[in-house]
Amino acid sequence: MAELDEFLKRVSHPGVAVSERLFTAMRGQASKTPICPETPYLDGRRTLVTGGNAGIGYWIAQGLSMRGASVMISARREAQLRNATESIGKETRNLVEYTPLDLADLRSVSEAAVKITRAAKEDPFDIVVLNAGIWPKKYARSAQGHEIAFAVNVLGHHALLKRLLARGMIATDARIVVLTGDIYVMARECTPDFKYSGAYGGMLAYCRSKLGNLWFAAEFAKRHPLLEVVVVHPGVVASGLVSGEHGILSTLNRGFLLSPKMGAQTPLVAATQPGLGRAIYLHNTAGHMKLSAEDPAVNATASAKFWSTLESLDGLT
Ligand SMILES: NC(=O)c1ccc[n+]([C@@H]2O[C@H](COP(=O)([O-])OP(=O)(O)OC[C@H]3O[C@@H](n4cnc5c(N)ncnc54)[C@H](OP(=O)(O)O)[C@@H]3O)[C@@H](O)[C@H]2O)c1
Repeated sequence: MAELDEFLKRVSHPGVAVSERLFTAMRGQASKTPICPETPYLDGRRTLVTGGNAGIGYWIAQGLSMRGASVMISARREAQLRNATESIGKETRNLVEYTPLDLADLRSVSEAAVKITRAAKEDPFDIVVLNAGIWPKKYARSAQGHEIAFAVNVLGHHALLKRLLARGMIATDARIVVLTGDIYVMARECTPDFKYSGAYGGMLAYCRSKLGNLWFAAEFAKRHPLLEVVVVHPGVVASGLVSGEHGILSTLNRGFLLSPKMGAQTPLVAATQPGLGRAIYLHNTAGHMKLSAEDPAVNATASAKFWSTLESLDGLT
């Protein structure tokens, strides 16, 4: 109880109705989540989905492939990458490939960027979906010693995108989709040295990293005005992220949660639909979300500082 009290103290945020936001995320998900239109078709378009071997990412990759795109998926578990590649390719008859990648290790990110470039025959990506993510069950650090949710959910993606840009692997008018979770409203900081213990520590680390995703996207969009950057909350989804014996949502009625296939619909809207605008935040039940000035996601000073931190840590200057 004392732990919960401490947690609630840490996540209350003046000016942002946290409980209302969480309620909006859960209420009527099944009926409010959009089904992504089948068009426009994506024949000839090249796409990359991190975490495309499982959960929401699998169905994002499947949806892009169904629409005619060639798809590259990246994650750690090679057997699951192979299975996903085979099963999507068999279903859609379009090119699906994979490259192993561990976002928790910047050496792996650098190697993967080289392999992805080679496998894609230096043909740049039109759509990149930064989907892979973790919700740590206990405190852990990345290969470079950073808190693990920060490292995987934010720093690894920042480093991957930067390396692909440096290799000319991002088309000049590409769409970059960044998955966050609306639960970020509980956080106000995101740092590589965050330390925690106890039942709610991993949850807080996750919330912080999802705020980091929004700060990263805002700063990245500023620096790449020709790219379309869309941040997405996919819904509260029955995926690997929330399962497992300690999964915070594993005790909730499964009826509240979306299937991973439904969880992929809003990211697919973000990846494929024209006219969304730049640097927007798309929410599965609330649509194009306008954030209040008090929302931590629009704290320009914090996001600029956060960008400097990412730049100083990613090993490529
Ligand atoms: N599920 C929800 O309710 C929910 C809500 C809001 C936002 N989201 C966001 O949606 C995204 C997808 O989550 P999900 O629910 O589909 O989770 P999931 O089922 O657990 O899938 C996570 C994916 O990320 C990959 N991954 C994990 N660690 C990695 C690493 N170190 N390097 C590379 N890839 C890694 C996993 O593959 P490997 O294990 O093989 O590496 C897997 O493909 C995440 O960004 C999450 O924050 C989910």
